Amino acid sequence: MEQHHHRGNFGSSIGFLMAAIGSAVGLGNLWGFPYKMGANGGAAFLIVYLVLIVAVGFPVLMGEIAIGRKTGRSAVGAFRRMDGRFPLVGYMGVISGTVVVAYYSVLGGLCLRYCFGFLLEFLGLNGFSATGAAFFESFSQSTGALIVCSGLFAGITGLILAGGVQKGIEKFSSVVMPLLFVMLVALVVYIARQPGAAEGYRFVFSPDFTYLKENFFSVVTTAAGQMFFSLSLAMGVMVAYGSYLSKEENIARDAAVVCGADTLIAILAGSLVIPAAITFVGPDAHLSGMKLLFVTMHEVFYNIGGKFGLLLGFFFFLVVIIAAFTSSVSLLEVSISCIVDRRIDRHQPPKRRTVALACTVLVFVMSLPVALDAVGLIEGRTPLALLRHLFASLPAQTWNGSFLDLYDMLTASCLMPLGALLTSLLIGWRYGTKTITDECGIRENRLLTICYKVIVPIVMLVVLYGQIRSFFG
Ligand code: PHE
Repeated sequence: MEQHHHRGNFGSSIGFLMAAIGSAVGLGNLWGFPYKMGANGGAAFLIVYLVLIVAVGFPVLMGEIAIGRKTGRSAVGAFRRMDGRFPLVGYMGVISGTVVVAYYSVLGGLCLRYCFGFLLEFLGLNGFSATGAAFFESFSQSTGALIVCSGLFAGITGLILAGGVQKGIEKFSSVVMPLLFVMLVALVVYIARQPGAAEGYRFVFSPDFTYLKENFFSVVTTAAGQMFFSLSLAMGVMVAYGSYLSKEENIARDAAVVCGADTLIAILAGSLVIPAAITFVGPDAHLSGMKLLFVTMHEVFYNIGGKFGLLLGFFFFLVVIIAAFTSSVSLLEVSISCIVDRRIDRHQPPKRRTVALACTVLVFVMSLPVALDAVGLIEGRTPLALLRHLFASLPAQTWNGSFLDLYDMLTASCLMPLGALLTSLLIGWRYGTKTITDECGIRENRLLTICYKVIVPIVMLVVLYGQIRSFFG
């Protein structure tokens, strides 16, 4: 019990939910989901996505929270306590979590810059030297400024985490998440009242079953990849948060709430980002990738015009920043909590603050390559350029175009599907579904066993294959 006290715990049920939803709702929802849905069959994609949430996302999420609470340990310690031979899955989570925060910091830093820029402009000061692509390119290539912004983002993340579980993670999430929701809904309502919005909705939502039929494999891998990234699975995040959860909590209910809230916010983002782009920038706007967020959305709020447009721009980027912070906090907590656990197990004082500082510095250093190649804009500094010193004939591929893509390939395409695959295999074939259902306070059921033993592993293998093929194809 005393050890439990040292590690920290969530103070309330709603606090845990806010933190877990905060982790799940991130750049993936606001930025990844809307375009992917539109480009992959609209509502037809959504159906596939929902089926995958129920059959794959929900069981894995529940399993991770249960493993955390049952063992009272974060990723590495938790998997070791479940079965001494497999701490590997925990280490994989620590590695991917750290790599993701590294690039998340650069993206978050960019969002900070935009949010600040809109605020300055609103106040009548000079916030941006240009709009759209011109600003994005000049800003990301001014290396020093980008590094400062990334460092600021990583630093604030570390500061929140130094506050501990209850006073840091829980308090922060409980304040900002409701704010995020209110601002997001307000923005959605504003866009819905614009005459051009309908065409945007058509792009995002209109179902294209022919597309689904003809590209079934790629739609499923895209939806599955998006789904488990969006639910923060296979990184040890939910294991860590579960380990801070009180024994009275109903894990099955909480997992369902997190799945529901995450999907709701993704759909709300779908009704905002793309329709806004099509309404205010036009059908030729960049709707995918980095440019959607940092070029098109910048233009959107300028085209809305006046002080009002600037204010909306500020609120929009505030929403994105909140989403990014609560996610990066959870990602960095994975490594922090594993180190703290290890110290506690060795009867050393946890020294959470020192550990948080060290992890933040590490993440900042790892974010440097991502900032230095200006997310792929400075060609001489990309992984491709560096690797060409070693392999003269290396072809240009998706993963070597920028350090951000390289980091993303390592995590979202390799470590995460592999982690989810191993987690479900361990639950299905070694720990047994009953271990999980007992912890969740529900009855063991056949369907869940089939999910862990067969369905999740198959889907994850398909994703692994599809992602690797898309990166090297
Ligand atoms: N779920 C977050 C998003 O959608 C990203 C994330 C992944 C956060 C894994 C934590 C762990 O952007």
